[in-house]
Amino acid sequence: MAQTFAFDVYGTLIDTHGLVSSLERIAGEGATAFSQTWREKQLEYSFRRGLMKQYDTFARCTRDALEYTCRFYGVEPATDQIETLLQGYRTLPAFEDAGPALSDLKAAGHRVYAFSNGTAEAVETLLISAGIRELFHGVVSVDDVRSFKPDPGVYAHFLNTTGTHAKDAWLVSGNPFDIIGAVSAGMHAAWVRRSKETVFDPWGIEPDIIVPGLGQLKEHLI
Ligand code: LAC
Repeated sequence: MAQTFAFDVYGTLIDTHGLVSSLERIAGEGATAFSQTWREKQLEYSFRRGLMKQYDTFARCTRDALEYTCRFYGVEPATDQIETLLQGYRTLPAFEDAGPALSDLKAAGHRVYAFSNGTAEAVETLLISAGIRELFHGVVSVDDVRSFKPDPGVYAHFLNTTGTHAKDAWLVSGNPFDIIGAVSAGMHAAWVRRSKETVFDPWGIEPDIIVPGLGQLKEHLI
């Protein structure tokens, strides 16, 4: 039976560490650690904005997190370097397994959506630049409800927008907090564990399946 898939974008389809080589110019050998702090802080800011009900766009979280990370590592990039990095974040690369996995699911008759903290405009820009936009039936953004994952309201918004019952919907994400949010909202979930070093949160709320990459989804879902 056809299912509806919500693909997380940043960290699942799109490589949030795709700017490491640009970051080397400002952080040198610390570029990988810089990239990790930037990503963690970006998510923390989204969680905090959600809790405080002080919504602003995910791009704002990204910008503020970059400024924090520069302060944390004691680097002071020029304004144009900051703007270049943020512009680069709008056209990050897709993981190589994204396109084939999306095509397979679509060809099998499933409905495939991008479901992201990013605004619809930012996600459309990313997917077009990564060459995978045409593989989706649509884009659903948390921006419509002015909150962030894992607020239960954003998963409800996905289900409402796509006209899907939770039991017929799958979230596919590399982010454990997103998996726990979706399962708590009644959806199925596939955790993409790209690195063996990534551990899952011990909350007693588990994904239905765990795959090492998007290429293995079809073994379970088609
Ligand atoms: C997203 C964040 C969770 O794309 O990375 O929704």
